[in-house]
Amino acid sequence: MILPGSASQSLGAALAAELDEPLAAVEYDRFADGELLVRTTEPSSTDRAVIVASTVSGDAHVELLQLQDVARQYAEEVVTVLPYMGYARQDDAFREGEPVSARAVARALSPGTDRVVCVDPHEPSIEEFFDVPFEAVSAADRLAAPLPDLADPLFLAPDASARGLAREVRDAYGTGTVDHFEKHRDRDTGEVSVAPSETAARDREVVLVDDIVATGGTMSEAIVQLDGPARVFVTCVHAMLAGSARTRLARVGVDRVYGTDTLERAESAVSVAPTVADAL
Ligand code: R5P
Repeated sequence: MILPGSASQSLGAALAAELDEPLAAVEYDRFADGELLVRTTEPSSTDRAVIVASTVSGDAHVELLQLQDVARQYAEEVVTVLPYMGYARQDDAFREGEPVSARAVARALSPGTDRVVCVDPHEPSIEEFFDVPFEAVSAADRLAAPLPDLADPLFLAPDASARGLAREVRDAYGTGTVDHFEKHRDRDTGEVSVAPSETAARDREVVLVDDIVATGGTMSEAIVQLDGPARVFVTCVHAMLAGSARTRLARVGVDRVYGTDTLERAESAVSVAPTVADAL
C-alpha cells in the first residue's frame, strides 16, 4: 500500500500504478490551532506500507511522522520514500554553533520506519545519519527524456560535485560534451561566485544540470558566464524554484526549466516513479 504525503500526491499515484499496489485514501486536516492531522479513511492490514513524502517544510516533516505512526499500526513493514529530503543540504555544522540538520532529521525519522529510500540526496554520505537501512537512488537518467532535440549540446554542471550528474544526463541523452564551472559559496554571506568553464559556449545549445535549483542563484551566476550560447536550458532533479527563482532564470536567458516530480511543480516534466519502483 502506498501512503502519499500531501506534497507528493501525484508521485504517490504514479508509484502505485508502477508497482500495481493500492493507493491509500489519505486526508490531510488541520485543527483550529494549526496542528496537523493525517487520516487514512479506509485503513486495512497490509504486508508493506510505502510512505512517499517530500519533506518540503516543517509541516511536511510532522505529517511524515504521523504517516509513519499510522503505517506502523497496519503494516508488517514500513518503508519511507523521501523523493526530496528537506534539510539535507545542512549536512555539516558549517559554522560554530550550528546543527547538523540532516542528522537531526534522520534521527527523528528512523524509529518510524524499517527502511529509507531517498532520491538524489545532496550528499549520499547522509546515510550514516540514519539508524535504519538507507538507499540513495539517482534519477539522473530520467532527466534526459524531456529535453528537446539539440545539436551537439554542452552539458554543464555549475560546480564540480554536479559533474557526475551532468555526465549521466549526457550519457542518457546520447550525445554532447560535459564540463563544469568552479563554484564558491561564502558561508557567511551565502553569496555564490562562479568561475567560467573552459569549454566555449558560443552558438551552442547549453544544458545546465544540477541536483537542485532552489533560489536559482547558482544557476544564474553560472549562466551569465556563458559567452553567446544559442539556447540555454536548465534541468535538475529537485526543481524547488523558491521565491523569485523563475524570474531570475528568465532574466539570464533560460529558455526552459525541467525538473522531476520529487517536487510537484509546473516544471515537473518527468516522473521518478520508475526509479523508486526499481529500488522497492
Ligand atoms: C549546492 O551545492 C547544490 O548542488 C545547488 O547548486 C544549490 O543548492 C542550489 O541552490 P540555489 O539555487 O539557491 O543557488
